[in-house]
Formats: sequence, structure tokens, C-alpha cells
Amino acid sequence: MKWSDWAVLALACVALNTGGARAADPLETAMQTCWSCHGVAGEPKDPTIPIIWGQQAKYIEKQLRDYRAGDRDNQIMSSMAEAVPFKELARAAELIAAKAWPQRADVAKAPAPESAATCQACHGADLMGGASPEGIAPRLAGQFAEYLDDQMGAFARDQRANQKTMSAMMKALSAEECARLAKYFAGL
Ligand code: HEC
Ligand code: HEC
Repeated sequence: MKWSDWAVLALACVALNTGGARAADPLETAMQTCWSCHGVAGEPKDPTIPIIWGQQAKYIEKQLRDYRAGDRDNQIMSSMAEAVPFKELARAAELIAAKAWPQRADVAKAPAPESAATCQACHGADLMGGASPEGIAPRLAGQFAEYLDDQMGAFARDQRANQKTMSAMMKALSAEECARLAKYFAGL
């Protein structure tokens, strides 16, 4: 389906649910498409799809721009990001960031590998993300281990080439260390 079809479908659903009594924000309505993968309550069913609710707004905005520009290469997300009207990118990111990060039950705690201290320099002492010397760093705490591990590998192999410092750092880590870090972050 094209984005416009999704938007029309989502609009129709909202109209049914509310009886058309309340005018919905068209951007919120169109973003129903996003939740089909990223989770209707913010928790994706597939652990290779990242949690984005409550993620850093400026980070989300940059990723959407990077997917559009092809600086971050992913077929699905490039077309998804292109479907968000350019002038609405920042507002879309803010709406997503304002939603509550999902509280996941039953996530195993894992010990902190020594290299985690390096990550805290930019991703924050609590690994919740925020301002860093390399721009806004994303929250890693509570993210899916599978997704984090995938992305670390993608940086190391230059498959994800939208942040040079991250690529350089990930090349220096073994696959085993990346897996340990990913499990640690997921359990926070
Ligand atoms: C068909 C499933 C699907 C849909 C629909 C979808 N996404 Fe995604 N999204 C993904 C996958 C898979 C990734 C990870 C891609 C990668 O490896 O770069 C992702 C990644 C992202 C990221 C990067 C998060 C991070 O931590 O780096 C953002 C932001 C995002 N999506 C926003 C959106 C928005 C906004 C929409 C709706 C306009 C949307 N997505 C719709 C599957 C989807
Ligand atoms: C010098 C600052 C800096 C340091 C140190 C750093 N990062 Fe990052 N990291 C960033 C920035 C900035 C981004 C966002 C990149 C982008 O714009 O796509 C990022 C992105 C990531 C992502 C992608 C998350 C997502 O949602 O897609 C992962 C995973 C990650 N870092 C892991 C780590 C790990 C593991 C360490 C420690 C070994 C680390 N980082 C150290 C700055 C840093």
C-alpha cells in the first residue's frame, strides 16, 4: 500500500472510533501506520524493530532525515520517512518522543561489560541518551538487544554509515563484546 492509502485507512478508522466527534491531528492519524511495526503501545512485536516511543526527539528527526537522504540505508524506513511531509519531520519526531517509553516485563538483567563506561561518555551515565560531543545520542537503556546488536554490527561493517565516530568505535569491538553490551543495555 502507498502512504496515502495507509493515511486514508487510518483516517477512516479514527472516524469510526470517535464517531467523527473529535477532530484528530492529521499527523497523529497518519502515524498509525508507524505503530503497525513500532507497536500500538510503543512496544514492537519484532525485536529487530526498535522502540521509538520516548526516544530523543532530535535523534529521531535526524534518523528520518538520514533515511530520506539515503545516509542510513534501509528500504522500508526510507519509504516510510519519505512519506512524512518534509515540513512535518520535526513535529513528527516530537510527537513520537513525547510518548512514554514502554515498560517491558521479564527482561533479563545482564552485568555491565567494562567497555560500557566508554558509551556513557556520550549516551549518558544512565544510558538514556542526550547531548554529546557528536550530537544528540540515542537512548540505549531498555532497547531490544537484538536491534542494538544489529546496529553495532552495521556500524562496524559501514552498512550504517551515518555517524563516523560510531563506526570507528564499533570496528574496535569484538562481536562478543557487542553482544554483551547489547544484553546489558536491554536489561536496564
Ligand atoms: C514495516 C515496518 C515499519 C514501519 C511501518 C515503520 N518502521 Fe520505522 N523502522 C522499522 C525497522 C525495521 C527499523 C530499523 C531499520 C534499520 O535497520 O535501519 C526502523 C527504524 C526506525 C527509526 C530509527 C530508530 C533508531 O533507534 O535508530 C525511526 C526513527 C523510525 N523507524 C520511525 C518510523 C516512523 C516515524 C514510521 C512511520 C512514518 C515508521 N518508522 C514506520 C520498521 C518500520
Ligand atoms: C563520542 C560519542 C559517542 C560514544 C563514545 C558512543 N556513542 Fe553510540 N552513538 C553516538 C551518536 C551521536 C549516535 C547517533 C548516531 C546517528 O546519528 O545515527 C550513536 C548511536 C548509537 C547506536 C544506535 C542506536 C539506535 O537506536 O539505532 C548504538 C547501538 C550505539 N550508539 C552504541 C554505542 C556503544 C555500545 C558505545 C560504547 C562502546 C557507544 N555507542 C559510544 C555517540 C557516541
